[in-house]
Amino acid sequence: MNVHDSEKVIGTLLQQGYSQVEEPEDAGLVLYNTCSIRDKAEQKVFNRLQNFKRDAGKGKVFGVLGCVAQQEGEKIFDRAPHVSLVCGSASYTRFGEMLVQLEAGNRRVTGLSLDTEDTFDTPFTRRDNPHRAYITIIEGCDKSCAYCVVPFTRGPERSRTSESVIAEARGLAERGYTEIQLLGQNVNSYRDPSPAGWDFATLLARVAEIPGMRRVRYTTSHPRDFVKSIVDAMDSNEVLCDHVHLPVQSGSSKVLAAMDRLYTRDEYMRRIEWLKTARRRYALTTDIIVGFPGETERDFQDTLDLLDEVQYDSLFSFKYSPRPNTAALAMEDRVAEDEKQRRLIVVQEKQRAIQIRRNAELIGGIQEVLVEGRHQALGQWIGRTSCNRTLNFTHPDIGETSLVGQYLPVRVTRSGPNSLVGESATVV
Ligand code: 5AD
Ligand code: SF4
Repeated sequence: MNVHDSEKVIGTLLQQGYSQVEEPEDAGLVLYNTCSIRDKAEQKVFNRLQNFKRDAGKGKVFGVLGCVAQQEGEKIFDRAPHVSLVCGSASYTRFGEMLVQLEAGNRRVTGLSLDTEDTFDTPFTRRDNPHRAYITIIEGCDKSCAYCVVPFTRGPERSRTSESVIAEARGLAERGYTEIQLLGQNVNSYRDPSPAGWDFATLLARVAEIPGMRRVRYTTSHPRDFVKSIVDAMDSNEVLCDHVHLPVQSGSSKVLAAMDRLYTRDEYMRRIEWLKTARRRYALTTDIIVGFPGETERDFQDTLDLLDEVQYDSLFSFKYSPRPNTAALAMEDRVAEDEKQRRLIVVQEKQRAIQIRRNAELIGGIQEVLVEGRHQALGQWIGRTSCNRTLNFTHPDIGETSLVGQYLPVRVTRSGPNSLVGESATVV
């Protein structure tokens, strides 16, 4: 989501006559797009700002964008006095005006209001990849997970109209994009504000029908709002990729209640059942937090047990990190740092073993890949499967022709915990 926010901000800059430089040293304006989902991400920003300070005297203008900007607000001007712009994502609709203020010499420009119904609908987005594009369908979040800073940094939920989403997707398909990823903190609660009133499953089905579209993905889902009609929509059109990211956070219903996740373990498992009994085989991935306040060894075992039961294809795991403004800050029974670290390693080792097995099951089969690049040294092309795995492969045409952007069938010959290796099944 942050990558795509940067694409939108860069597009606005280019439209206002700015040009991009290769090295930050060559820039007149340096913008940091920031994340504050965990403390480590936030610390990084201040370290980088500090390291860049030596250049502050050389006439550069600095700005901090994104969630750390929203969270810390004007305090950033005190902590890093060389910063002139502090702007959260809910204010990007006003980003052009803020540039004008900076150009006029204002050195305390802010965009910190969360009081918005707007979504940032820029036609100028400067996309990084010529084949794969992101489209924001919903911004902000109305859930209140006890650990999460997002509702405070990205503001309340706002859905884009279905007309504007479809128009953007069609425009991209006409310009040769074949893969689209629909984005939102919780795409499942998408609700078209226009009279058509589409829900997420309808939007998904309609985007997938656009001529020229080969792959449609989406992220991220909230299990509470992940309804059966989404699985039905996916089952009925293979353009909708064979992958669902369904963050569970914990395998213990007690911890899930403390997190205010609004589902129990059983309710989550019902959704997994829909996916496992669906017409196609879907890759399943998730997010896990270890060491949430009050998580006992027993609760942690419930999470490990859930990993055994679901057999995820991949997961992201995090140590609980206390965030400002959140409900969990006041909770007792904090888990010690070294215990969180131990639990994190246990989760990662268990998952590694699962992935080795799951990936090995694909050996001998054929997967269609979108070619993304090339490993010159290894003489391999880098592909991505519909189930979101990296599949590096050899191809008779390793010479001059670029295969990037093509869809090719590849036979899987080897596997590791994090990727597959194969050989092209056809000669182009
Ligand atoms: N501590 C640790 N992990 C967190 N996440 C969100 N907030 C926190 C936090 N305070 C994780 C969740 C979420 C993912 C994007 O980041 O697992 O799904
Ligand atoms: Fe954060 Fe929960 Fe909203 Fe996801 S659903 S962004 S975890 S508050």
